[in-house]
Amino acid sequence: AEMTGTLALSVFTAVLGSLEFGYNIGVINAPQKIIEEDYNATWVHRYGEPIPKGTLTSLWSLSVAIFSIGGMISSVCVGFVSEWLGRRKAMLINNLSAFIGGSLMGMSKLCRSFEMMILGRFIIGVYCGLASGLTPMYVGEIAPTSLRGALGTLHQLAIVTGILIAQILGLELLLGSQDLWPVLLGLTVVPTVLQMALLPFCPESPRFLYIIRCQEHPAKRGLRRLTGRQDVGDMMAEMKEEKRRMDMERKVSISELFRSSLYRQPIIIAIMLQLSQQLSGVNAIFYYSTSIFMKAGVQSPVYATIGTGVINCAFTVVSLFLIERMGRRTLHMLGLGGMCICAIIMTVALALLDSVPWMSYISMLSIFGFVAFFEVGPGPIPWFFVAELFSQGPRPAAMAVAGCSNWTANFIIGMCFQYIADLCGPYVFLIFAVLLLFFLIFTFLRVPETQGRTFDQIAANFHQHSAGMIDMDLDLDLDQDKPSTELDYLGEE
Ligand code: GLC
Repeated sequence: AEMTGTLALSVFTAVLGSLEFGYNIGVINAPQKIIEEDYNATWVHRYGEPIPKGTLTSLWSLSVAIFSIGGMISSVCVGFVSEWLGRRKAMLINNLSAFIGGSLMGMSKLCRSFEMMILGRFIIGVYCGLASGLTPMYVGEIAPTSLRGALGTLHQLAIVTGILIAQILGLELLLGSQDLWPVLLGLTVVPTVLQMALLPFCPESPRFLYIIRCQEHPAKRGLRRLTGRQDVGDMMAEMKEEKRRMDMERKVSISELFRSSLYRQPIIIAIMLQLSQQLSGVNAIFYYSTSIFMKAGVQSPVYATIGTGVINCAFTVVSLFLIERMGRRTLHMLGLGGMCICAIIMTVALALLDSVPWMSYISMLSIFGFVAFFEVGPGPIPWFFVAELFSQGPRPAAMAVAGCSNWTANFIIGMCFQYIADLCGPYVFLIFAVLLLFFLIFTFLRVPETQGRTFDQIAANFHQHSAGMIDMDLDLDLDQDKPSTELDYLGEE
């Protein structure tokens, strides 16, 4: 399969939503102190006295965390919205919320209102929750099988690019200053405008058009544009097969995902992968790195934070090149294992810091390593893996469930990390090490390889397995003479 202009344009346009997602994850880390001063100024203006310390902390935590609440709520709607409007129109309309959210945040200083800021963070969270489901779904559906992992990784690459841009622009000498922070937060409307301008030139997902809407001709036209080929008979045939299978099933609702033995196994895998991504502790770094580096005795914590952003981007690119060679399973395990080791090294370094001063370098390096291993697998893979595990029928509901698990775990880490860190001191990353080990074992035992298989083949495998099974238990047989189109649960060593 080749990369065509239309495919490149469509993927680029879609991942502008991911860029925006990343930008809003990273944007509030650096200017915290400065925005807090403005909250205080507003308070003084209204009530004639400085804001109580506790109130300020609460207002700030709320401003940070309400973003993930917005994401939790809207990610549940991904299934419904993407079926109702179609993938493309859903992305298009979603931009309205980015526009409103960005404007509210950008004008909150002018209007002397932290309420506007908090509401803006909520609405931009709503945007990001939808985008975090719609983008991987659309990209997964328009990508040819052999490029699905690489193109899927672009969602994560755009997220990390967004984080890095936000970290850099947030420097005080750029936009993270007293006067300019509203621009910093308002800038989020730029990718939105670009996406709105480009979406009309991107074809709707042919899989959606044909399998869900039964529109054969528009689907064919889309396929021709995306592949640059006149003859798309083979792809139509594959979709027909998927459609035939789907038409025999009932419509899949969220609760059905858990009740039906066909889906229970893949949905549990999807949820666990999302949890492994978030409970790895990566966002403890991305939300609080500056203060972590400070505690570790690192000299310029702000630049160390930007260092994590750069490494984050670099290793997502590494993953991009490895993903179609080494497969999802291997990379995910490699990433989790590496993170686990880095977390242990970090703990040792932090514990020895008082007696051995150069340990601050070791802890900095172990944080860099932690982030690097994250992007090798646990960063990019869970996002597109969900779309791979399910066929067209259950996919939207599955994306919703998986997305919501991701956002919920994200919220929990964002809210609790600082309290737990205060409680555990240098040993806080041991908790993540234990969780990482658990997810590593889970991946080894339960997660199948999906590289190079069509959606239909992947789903068919789960169907076969569930047919021969009474309960959740995966039979982990290493049957050598299975047809090659089947998934191998234990890889192909
Ligand atoms: C993933 C996570 C996100 C995290 C980012 C860091 O996209 O979903 O929560 O902040 O990676 O690179």
